[in-house]
Amino acid sequence: MALTTLLCALVAAVSGVQAVTVYGQQPLVTSTTTSSAPGATYTGLAAYDPRILDPPPLPDPLPPNQFGIQLSASASNVQGLSIPLSGSFFGFSVEMSVVTQVSESVIHPPFLNLMALVAERAGRVLVRVGGNTQDTARMVQSLEDGKAIEKQQVDTNNPTQTPALLYTPEILYLLSNISSLVNVKWYLGIPLNDTSELHLEIVEWGERILGDNLLGFQVGNEPDLYQRHGHRQEGYGPFDYFGEFGQVRDAMQSMNVPATNNLIGPSLATGDWTPEDMWNTGFIQAYSDSLAALSVEHYPDDNCAALYEGFGQPVDPQAAFSRYLNHTAGSSIISIYMNSTNVAQQAGKQFIMFETNSASCGGFPGISTSFGAALWAIDYGLQMGYSNFSHALLHVGGQNVYYNPFTAPPTNESSYHQWTVGPIFYSVLAVAETLGSSNNSQIIDLQANGGNIFTPGYAVYENGNLARLALINFMTDPSGANDYTATIAVGGGESGQPNGTPAQLKVKYLRAPSVGDKWNVTWGGQSLGGQFEADGRLKGDLDIQTVQCDQGANTCQVKVPAPGFALVFMSDEAMQESEPASTATFATTVVTKAKNTVTIDPEVLATSNGHKGMKGRYGSTSAGSNAARRAVGAYPSAMALLAAVAGAAVIRRAIVRSV
Ligand SMILES: *[C@@H]1O[C@H](CO)[C@@H](O)[C@H](O)[C@H]1NC(C)=O
Ligand SMILES: *[C@@H]1O[C@H](CO)[C@@H](O)[C@H](O)[C@H]1NC(C)=O
Ligand SMILES: *[C@@H]1O[C@H](CO)[C@@H](O)[C@H](O)[C@H]1NC(C)=O
Ligand SMILES: *[C@@H]1O[C@H](CO)[C@@H](O)[C@H](O)[C@H]1NC(C)=O
Ligand SMILES: *[C@@H]1O[C@H](CO)[C@@H](O)[C@H](O)[C@H]1NC(C)=O
Ligand SMILES: *[C@@H]1O[C@H](CO)[C@@H](O)[C@H](O)[C@H]1NC(C)=O
Ligand SMILES: *[C@@H]1O[C@H](CO)[C@@H](O)[C@H](O)[C@H]1NC(C)=O
Ligand SMILES: *[C@@H]1O[C@H](CO)[C@@H](O)[C@H](O)[C@H]1NC(C)=O
Repeated sequence: MALTTLLCALVAAVSGVQAVTVYGQQPLVTSTTTSSAPGATYTGLAAYDPRILDPPPLPDPLPPNQFGIQLSASASNVQGLSIPLSGSFFGFSVEMSVVTQVSESVIHPPFLNLMALVAERAGRVLVRVGGNTQDTARMVQSLEDGKAIEKQQVDTNNPTQTPALLYTPEILYLLSNISSLVNVKWYLGIPLNDTSELHLEIVEWGERILGDNLLGFQVGNEPDLYQRHGHRQEGYGPFDYFGEFGQVRDAMQSMNVPATNNLIGPSLATGDWTPEDMWNTGFIQAYSDSLAALSVEHYPDDNCAALYEGFGQPVDPQAAFSRYLNHTAGSSIISIYMNSTNVAQQAGKQFIMFETNSASCGGFPGISTSFGAALWAIDYGLQMGYSNFSHALLHVGGQNVYYNPFTAPPTNESSYHQWTVGPIFYSVLAVAETLGSSNNSQIIDLQANGGNIFTPGYAVYENGNLARLALINFMTDPSGANDYTATIAVGGGESGQPNGTPAQLKVKYLRAPSVGDKWNVTWGGQSLGGQFEADGRLKGDLDIQTVQCDQGANTCQVKVPAPGFALVFMSDEAMQESEPASTATFATTVVTKAKNTVTIDPEVLATSNGHKGMKGRYGSTSAGSNAARRAVGAYPSAMALLAAVAGAAVIRRAIVRSV
């Protein structure tokens, strides 16, 4: 509420002109039909690909559909709990070229609403702005025509083809303006393409403008792929990155900036080097005083073959779907880091998955946009937490990728379309609620149901006490025969501990009819809407089920649908901490009404995907306003992280695994 008021006040006070209309309102072109017909081809924007996959066949043998979970009430009796985790475990990673694509505009209310949903559950939201683009990005004080961002030549050595870009401090003000509305904290990237002439303007201006809202600077991006992508000479190795990191550290220490202990590296794709190759250089010890966290970036697969020649046969999404739909999926992505999370812990550093999602090179049609991907992301995220990662940032691309947690409408359709929220956005909410907002949750993989990979479960201890369970059912069976019932017991029996089973539990479900489904996902009965339907607010009545326990028998029975995720609150306090009492919302009327909306020349936005900078041309159709006034309604200059996030260009991730 307060935020809404604030925003309205700002709009009224600052913009003067609130009316902006997007030109060129035309009927929806994007197909809304769904098809799983083999051979059906879709040629539109990836983010709106209608492909729906069939759920994989049921496993054979079927997992038992009844099993017990015996728990201790206190963490002190549990071996193998994770380090303390925060509800902001999952954050977002936004390619720099995307964020900066729309230089002057307004902060889209749907974006603020989505960030508010996470912040209310987690306390704050972490967003990284960086990626392949960061290495060749330069901050300059101004650009011609008042642009805030300008793209230059395309780097043909890099399969991700992220162009060099120039941007002004206005971009940092945009981020700062967002943080003044929602508790978003930022990671930025230091360019490392040319260490003979370092460019640390982003450090100077980033610290000055963002202050406490800045968490750290990533030094370079995926240096283990520099040589492969032609950015470094043959023979470039871990010691070379070690040296370059040192140059940045030294240069920063000679600058007059408040903080020099906020560097992050090595952000290996773990393609051409192992993390141990890096640790063995003495990296952590040498830079301990400067390092805020250790980072890696990884995807379980890539869709590069569908986009580029030389990568072999494209993956068939239907055939690959089952690889996301079991408990081995998440743990196998991070098995290469198990030593490193331990190394990081011993060094007293956070270990962060700085960029990840279902597949690099944009994800897979049908998979990345599915409810199955949401279940995969929950299990993967909780597995990372259990494995002592501190955070994981889900990559957000633009219209041209499949895996987006959220996507702004095509800019020429933004007047009559809302945003599109992908199923994995719900995973971010679910993980935030699973961990709560205390920063002091420890999680354990229960190896539930005899370690069956289709029915994984986790327990969360918060401030030392059993607080929540997270139970997943990866199967799809509309008959209900493969829903499972977990019989939960706290203490008692052979545990040697007193009966601790509560009188009742509360359960919140994430569900959809099938793992292939896209738009019928509900979280506690609420939905963010289907394609082009999201204003960033959960719609519908919150539905949290109550389960009466049998305290005499010391059991509570919780059913988990096939498919589905159940968040079990072991106490009312655990639920109250996870569930926001109220949700601050940002009025979407600011940008959607015929009056009081923002004018953006669609031609400008349509070309904002990489080839041209914003030309600063604004027009307005509203009474009493004119183009010269730059009526960027909702929030001056600050608007478009989202459009930016969405407006997007080719956000193709580098090939992160060895191919
Ligand atoms: C919006 O622009 C895209 C890309 O140029 C185009 O495919 C689509 O048809 C446009 N939509 C409308 C409604 O003009
Ligand atoms: C580094 O990137 C800038 C573009 O931002 C480019 O002008 C320069 O040539 C690059 N340097 C090297 C050594 O590649
Ligand atoms: C918002 O952005 C404007 C410049 O566009 C800047 O002057 C102002 O200080 C920013 N506000 C905050 C809170 O960062
Ligand atoms: C873990 O990493 C450290 C540092 O690179 C290395 O010395 C050690 O051998 C590794 N341990 C295992 C089990 O791989
Ligand atoms: C489970 O997932 C792993 C990892 O993706 C995959 O290799 C395996 O084939 C899957 N198992 C089944 C039975 O689908
Ligand atoms: C995570 O760290 C804790 C605390 O050091 C440790 O007990 C636990 O074994 C670690 N978990 C894994 C999976 O390595
Ligand atoms: C959680 O950690 C963040 C970052 O250190 C801090 O700002 C916040 O106040 C903490 N929350 C609680 C409840 O301690
Ligand atoms: C899922 O949503 C779509 C689009 O809103 C709707 O047409 C379809 O009937 C729904 N399917 C189920 C099984 O609810």
